[in-house]
Amino acid sequence: MNPIQDSLMSRLKQETTAEHDRMEILMRESKALDSKERYAQFTLSQYYFQKDVEHLYLDPHVSQLIPDLDVRGRSEAALLDLADLGLKPKHEGNTTNAVSFPQSLGWIYVSEGSTLGAAFLYKEVQARFGFNADFAARNLAAYPEGRAIVWKRFKQTLDDANFNELEQEQIIEGAMQGFKRFGDLLADLKQLT
Ligand code: HEM
Repeated sequence: MNPIQDSLMSRLKQETTAEHDRMEILMRESKALDSKERYAQFTLSQYYFQKDVEHLYLDPHVSQLIPDLDVRGRSEAALLDLADLGLKPKHEGNTTNAVSFPQSLGWIYVSEGSTLGAAFLYKEVQARFGFNADFAARNLAAYPEGRAIVWKRFKQTLDDANFNELEQEQIIEGAMQGFKRFGDLLADLKQLT
């Protein structure tokens, strides 16, 4: 790879900044942390998004590239949280059936990166509602090894794979799709069942 060219991970960060900003606005507008009821709806959105992303883990291209998938993914955590919050998902609607490799890595990027911002949300729901890693906020808790370590390892894996220009474009496209999906869930939070 051309050494003066940006790495895939720095491109992902730069080229999805506007989408990230949009997520922060949507989070505010959704009032996800205003009440336990609204937080439960937010947890439902997490559950659906995590199911979308974890579906992509089934592709051998993905599991060969990312050997520690078993520590990633939070749908199980979100499902347990939903039970604590008295909600049950009504469907398993999967929106990622048509997502192919390496676009799928962009979706996984969105999911893994969101664990960083989740640190802030975790503190908030702990302070407001007393939720924690054993009750109702498992989906926002850090991975057992710590958020930063698991994120750094993910970044390294993707950069070390040396994807060519076309593949990088596809991964960025996948990340845009992932942000769009989560944004749609957030925008619809009140109606989510
Ligand atoms: C209140 C809402 C949010 C806040 C306050 C927040 C905050 C943050 C922070 C502080 C970082 C770390 C930045 C760094 O270390 O350079 C981060 C990274 C990231 N967040 Fe969020 N975030 C929020 C929502 C979301 C959502 C809803 C998603 C996606 C579904 C998301 C996806 C990401 C991604 C992909 C990264 C990694 C960026 C990179 O490439 O370094 N964030 N966020």
